[in-house]
Amino acid sequence: MKLSERLARLGTETAFEVLVRARTLEAKGRSVIHLEIGEPDFDTPAHVVEAGIAALKAGATHYGPAAGLPELRQAVAEDSTARRGVKATPEMVVVTPGGKPIMFYLILALVDPGDEVLYPNPGFPIYESMIRYIGGVPVPVRLLEEKKFELDVDQLVSRVGPKTRLIILNYPHNPTGGTIPESGLRAIASAAAKYGVPVLSDEIYARILYDGQHTSIASMPGMEPLAIVLDGFSKTYAMTGWRLGYGIMPAPMAQVVAKLQTNATSCTATFSQMAAVTALRGDQSSVERMNAEFRRRRDFIVENLRQIPGFTCVRPRGAFYVFPNIVGTGHSSKSLADHLLDEAGVACLSGTAFGEFGEGHVRFSYANSMDNLAEALKRIKGWVENHGGRRA
Ligand SMILES: Cc1ncc(COP(=O)(O)O)c(C=O)c1O
Repeated sequence: MKLSERLARLGTETAFEVLVRARTLEAKGRSVIHLEIGEPDFDTPAHVVEAGIAALKAGATHYGPAAGLPELRQAVAEDSTARRGVKATPEMVVVTPGGKPIMFYLILALVDPGDEVLYPNPGFPIYESMIRYIGGVPVPVRLLEEKKFELDVDQLVSRVGPKTRLIILNYPHNPTGGTIPESGLRAIASAAAKYGVPVLSDEIYARILYDGQHTSIASMPGMEPLAIVLDGFSKTYAMTGWRLGYGIMPAPMAQVVAKLQTNATSCTATFSQMAAVTALRGDQSSVERMNAEFRRRRDFIVENLRQIPGFTCVRPRGAFYVFPNIVGTGHSSKSLADHLLDEAGVACLSGTAFGEFGEGHVRFSYANSMDNLAEALKRIKGWVENHGGRRA
């Protein structure tokens, strides 16, 4: 079959490829510790699972409206108004199978060939993949390691102009765990408002934040007609396999996105959506428990990575990833990640899986047990001590 030309521009998410490589090694009898994939290792809270089962038993096994079930759109709007300070109505909410489709739909809806899109680099690889796929011009904005991986707001603001069609932000940030301070968000909001540029604010890790309060750019003056918030249930409620996310955006845009969804998937699974209503409205203690455990693991992995020759490590402020600098080992990011998988039995991702500015780093997800983290750190340290200083 002859593939379309545009397909050559489509990127991917390396985490899934590394997972397959790791599983192949395991099938051959090798032990691998999985620090590559970005999903909580916790179970979905029991009361949410029960709500999903009850919905299935009650017959929630049919198509639903493209934009999402009215009860869930209402619950998301209420949650957003209460937690983000973004005045949302159900008409502004579109429920999608995971948060990812919001990126796809928004970039499809807003970007024409030749249009510029600003996005964080290193950053979630699907942003750049989708921008290129549509024929847009990706304009990467660096994260500043010396400022705990805050986005370089000055660089972003200086690059906003008449050709900019979209700004993508992600805070707390994958892969670094960095965030954007309120002053930075204000500066970005004012640049976006000046040129009338929409902002896709990926806040999927908003509730996995260890220091301070999450502030959404959507709550800032001038952003009402321009902000699209992406969030979902995958990370906050450990529901990756339920495929549940949403976007909050101006109501006319929500209609456009719902139309794209009609073309792509028709709707999000109905019983999943009913479980999501329970997740939002029910007991939130599971979120706090998960975060407390992530914080403990973050501190443990950071302290131990700092003991490895050639590694330095910024303490992340949110999400469940660390992005140590490995330049001092003498290895490139890809080579170190490959060696750690093949020879040390630790699966992680090369920093370059998140864009060109990820060179010099690897990403470890600490969504794994303390025992596995301790074993992984022992293996990494052992391997680096034997192979450091030699560029492969
Ligand atoms: C920054 C970021 N945004 C969005 C997503 C998508 O999550 P979902 O599984 O809900 O599609 C992820 C998942 O890894 C992510 O890291």
